[in-house]
Amino acid sequence: RTVVSTNIHAVESRVAMEDRWQKNNHKSGVIWLTGLSGAGKTTLALALEHELHRKGYQVYVLDGDNIRHGLSADLGFSPDDRAENIRRVGEVSALFAQAGMIVVTAFISPYRADRDHVRDIAGTLFHEVHVKADVATCELRDPKGLYKKARAGEIKDFTGISAPYEPPQAPELVVDTANQSIEQSVAELLAYVTTHF
Ligand code: PPS
Ligand code: MG
Repeated sequence: RTVVSTNIHAVESRVAMEDRWQKNNHKSGVIWLTGLSGAGKTTLALALEHELHRKGYQVYVLDGDNIRHGLSADLGFSPDDRAENIRRVGEVSALFAQAGMIVVTAFISPYRADRDHVRDIAGTLFHEVHVKADVATCELRDPKGLYKKARAGEIKDFTGISAPYEPPQAPELVVDTANQSIEQSVAELLAYVTTHF
């Protein structure tokens, strides 16, 4: 993406991120969930948010299905549009994390290069989680009937059917939702956050 902003001078806050951590009694960061449609990203993100909120953490979920109604309402599902969607969400997530929040994101984010770009933006604040379930499992679940539509040719560029999914090669965490319960996956995510944050 071409940078067209010129004559820009960055300003520096007198409140350091570490000061915010001290006030909140926990560190901040981005828990980046990636996986196929129907793998469980939204379910896990909302459960994790609920549990962390109850425990007193500052936490907020950004979900693809919601963001695409607003911030990314002008984008579709071509590789370029997905890259731009993930770039925007990556920038927003990094801002939330710098503001002291634990951000849990739920985006398919199928392209490795796009996720690596977010890692470049967020640095050590970025924690990649593969919400892992194979296409056959997701297609059996098909909670929104999207796989059915994709198979019928009614949705083009559908991830796992007519568009690629590139799994992470070195994620901080893998949750295997095809082979364990939602409760088990939420417990693994909670354990990760409470030890690292
Ligand atoms: S991406 O690839 O990260 O930019 O996608 P994301 O912002 O997460 O949006 C995915 C949700 O959009 C719906 N949807 C599609 N998904 C994949 N491919 C195509 N072509 C498509 N069209 C619509 C779908 O509800 C996705 O939500 P989840 O929760 O993943 O099922
Ligand atoms: Mg979802």
